[in-house]
Amino acid sequence: MYKIQEAEMLANNIYRMVVEAPRVAQHCLPGQFVIVKADEEGERIPLTICDYDREAGTITIVFMPIGESTKKMKDLKAGDAFMDFVGPLGQPSEFCSEDIEELKKKRIVFVAGGVGTAPVYPQLKWLHEHGITADAIVGAKTKDLVILEKEMSAVSNLYITTDDGSYVRKGMGTDVLRDLVQNQGKQYDVCVAIGPMIMMKFVCLLTKELNIPTVVSMNPIMVDGTGMCGACRLMVGNEVKFACVDGPEFDGHLVDFDLAMKRQQMYKTEEGRALLRYQE
Ligand code: FES
Repeated sequence: MYKIQEAEMLANNIYRMVVEAPRVAQHCLPGQFVIVKADEEGERIPLTICDYDREAGTITIVFMPIGESTKKMKDLKAGDAFMDFVGPLGQPSEFCSEDIEELKKKRIVFVAGGVGTAPVYPQLKWLHEHGITADAIVGAKTKDLVILEKEMSAVSNLYITTDDGSYVRKGMGTDVLRDLVQNQGKQYDVCVAIGPMIMMKFVCLLTKELNIPTVVSMNPIMVDGTGMCGACRLMVGNEVKFACVDGPEFDGHLVDFDLAMKRQQMYKTEEGRALLRYQE
């Protein structure tokens, strides 16, 4: 069992938990994820790692309840435990394997949408620990949904925007990126976009126009997380890829977002869920 040390509501319907998982904490790197299961009947839920503490042996997860299992998960309190907490899964962010001196020459911008801020944070923190401070644009629907502001601003040059203008500025993350590049003279060698698929699609359309290579972190439905079931299949360029083992990060300019979103919709239906159970 994997004991929950801390559990709190970070923002409106966004929850944060610190979980004792020493083996995962020992080996994980930014960009990777875990699959958790609250109890025997619970679904397996893939969650990106928001933070890790190797010494304390803990992993921080951040999630927004959407299905039945994540709704049950939000009711867990400090002292409760997860039955399964499997990871680290997937490939680490490509920054982790780059030459640090080369990486220091790169101008990097992150665009995070909503709860996608959580997986962006460990990447910014890792870069910061290696002497690199990237720009980070965080877009949220409203002020209430801005998360990790203090943590993010400690490790990046942070730009916040809200869809309704209730905090800092009004507009999407793409508006800020366009403004930084076209009006404020910023230049970037790489963009990393993490958030809802539709948001990543629009970031990629913009970065294609601005000629900025872009990495996205794909979050399709996952079942086994080991490349066996095919649930997380994506088309990247002309190749079939599995987000759980080949990703979750991919070249955003090659991802077929329309197909990925169609598949995500399919799995939202009861039939899709039944199919997934069957495949399990
Ligand atoms: Fe990736 Fe099953 S979750 S192949």
